[in-house]
Amino acid sequence: MSRGLIRIGALAGLLAVGGCGGDDSGDNSSAPPQELPRSGYSWSLPPGFPTPQEFAENPLSDAKVELGRHLFYDARLSINQTTSCASCHLPARAFADGRVTAVGATGQVHLRNAMSLTNVVYNATFDWANPVLTTLHQQALTPMFNEFPVELGWADHEAEILDRLRYDPLYQDLFVAAYPDATDHFTADQVAKGVAAFVSTLISGNSAYDQSTLQGNRDAMSEAARRGQELFFSERMECFHCHGGFNFSQSVNHSGTTLPQAEFHNNGLYNIGGAGDYPLGNRGLWEFTQQPADMGRFRAPTLRNIELTAPYMHDGSIATLEEVIDHYARGGRLVREGPLAGDGALNPFKSELMPARFSLTDQEKLDIIAFLKSLTDWNFLCNARFADPFGNFERHSDCY
Ligand code: HEC
Ligand code: HEC
Repeated sequence: MSRGLIRIGALAGLLAVGGCGGDDSGDNSSAPPQELPRSGYSWSLPPGFPTPQEFAENPLSDAKVELGRHLFYDARLSINQTTSCASCHLPARAFADGRVTAVGATGQVHLRNAMSLTNVVYNATFDWANPVLTTLHQQALTPMFNEFPVELGWADHEAEILDRLRYDPLYQDLFVAAYPDATDHFTADQVAKGVAAFVSTLISGNSAYDQSTLQGNRDAMSEAARRGQELFFSERMECFHCHGGFNFSQSVNHSGTTLPQAEFHNNGLYNIGGAGDYPLGNRGLWEFTQQPADMGRFRAPTLRNIELTAPYMHDGSIATLEEVIDHYARGGRLVREGPLAGDGALNPFKSELMPARFSLTDQEKLDIIAFLKSLTDWNFLCNARFADPFGNFERHSDCY
């Protein structure tokens, strides 16, 4: 933990923690100059989308993305050859897994819900509430080497796993093409950078909402979804304050950002014992800072493809979108009994941006759900460039 504390200190100037969306009026002059690697990678971007950040140590190329796609779907990357990145990030579920919390290769249960990888390249920080994880290849090392819980199980098995790849002619070609200047191939770092390159390309911006609002095809959205859009952006529901902008998440970074914006909010899921506590191990930013005010503060994830990524929240504790709306309408969740009992609406650390209690008619509730479903992007879900080259993981059934 102490390492985390030191690094968060160094990053403090970059973290607009506590602020709300839009342009932070803070002084940008101290922001470090943006390092733009000149990889020449040609992004395939939806209309209206900014050019993604490229991570200086990991310039993209088509060959690296192709290596990464194979690695992402390859179960040989786990200790017992049962699990790949895709096991927890299923293409049919917009790269989430449908479980309450994730399960690693050896059956150990993760404390958190596997995140969707939709538009992950645009996030300012990675994971549910990790303020110091700011590059995708560092992120990839986490599931590879994590021991609490074991996810892929690389710790103490690195050489063995890399040898499985080294003696496969397919990977001999892919690694050399991806890292043409390297003297040594088949390193953990190259694996992490390869999967990170692939994951960077998982860009979704062609939902009915995008077609309607950015591409001039108003009819792509139903009447109900358009009414829901008004509700989403209303002061009654307040959703847009934390899930705003092109990615429906305030916490974005891209090539045009001068100050990466990392925000974490407590949205009133728990209030154990009335003191504001969240369950230990799942206290969000608090796990890094131990500051009371950081209790329960998590990143508001993108809402794109949200229809397909249930269950919801960092611990998968809300099963459906209807229940998510009920949660916000109440201003927080009431856990009536058991060890987690408490009224989240009264959590003293709840974000000021959370809506006060609101009520919705049955029709309005249908409308807001219709809006959230209009963020589903079938071109993304069915895109052959994101598909499993080994054919083990199906895309969504509606793609066929
Ligand atoms: C055992 C299941 C599991 C496996 C295997 C797994 N992940 Fe994840 N992934 C998760 C969970 C759970 C989270 C959220 C972690 C957290 O917040 O602590 C996550 C988060 C992420 C994120 C952050 C998303 C965001 O919006 O910040 C990325 C990127 C990611 N995983 C990529 C990968 C890659 C690449 C691999 C393979 C090297 C991989 N994952 C393997 C479960 C898994
Ligand atoms: C104060 C900021 C804030 C506001 C306002 C807000 N959210 Fe959230 N939202 C969050 C945070 C933070 C999370 C993740 C919380 C967690 O996991 O502990 C979240 C999670 C979600 C999720 C689950 C995402 C996932 O991938 O599991 C959905 C769906 C959602 N919000 C929808 C909405 C809707 C609809 C509204 C308006 C009624 C809204 N939010 C208003 C901050 C906010």
